Amino acid sequence: MTATATTTLRIYSDTDPSALALETSDGNRIAAELRDIGVRFERWSAGAHLAPGADQEAVIAAYRSSIDALISECGYQSVDVVRVERGTPNTEPMRKKFLDEHQHSEDEVRFFVEGRGAFYLHVGDRVYQTVCVKGDLISVPAGTKHWFDMGADPEFTAIRLFMNPEGWVANFTGDTIAAGYPKLD
Ligand SMILES: [Fe+2]
Repeated sequence: MTATATTTLRIYSDTDPSALALETSDGNRIAAELRDIGVRFERWSAGAHLAPGADQEAVIAAYRSSIDALISECGYQSVDVVRVERGTPNTEPMRKKFLDEHQHSEDEVRFFVEGRGAFYLHVGDRVYQTVCVKGDLISVPAGTKHWFDMGADPEFTAIRLFMNPEGWVANFTGDTIAAGYPKLD
């Protein structure tokens, strides 16, 4: 596994990336801090073994019961999978795609079932770096300014749930804030 295989929340000032207000790996504390800004965060079980090369259908089949539970609770209309296996070449363009601050007109819902990735949520005068790992479910509300870092040597599988995938486009804010904050690695 990777060095940082633990869910971690770091809260920074949005004007000073060196001003770290909180760092915690306590799942309940993370959920509570994120709940305060309207973000759903939960630790789920993600014990299924996924074979190398497992495709979208295989991942969805392995996590069908979790997906069905989310669909029946929240009414999501579609599901897909992003899987980046360790050693995948040329991931830098993929990484850059969501590395600048942006918003969506619908929630960004991700269930991490392998590896890790970092969401940076810019809410009020703070930046919440949330390192999500296998088993973490996060739902970033529509309109929340954020960016995502999969890291320099990415390895993750995320199940994505949508109300309307056509509406899920990144609207970049034009703010360069993301460049000043520590990357995932
Ligand atoms: Fe996004």
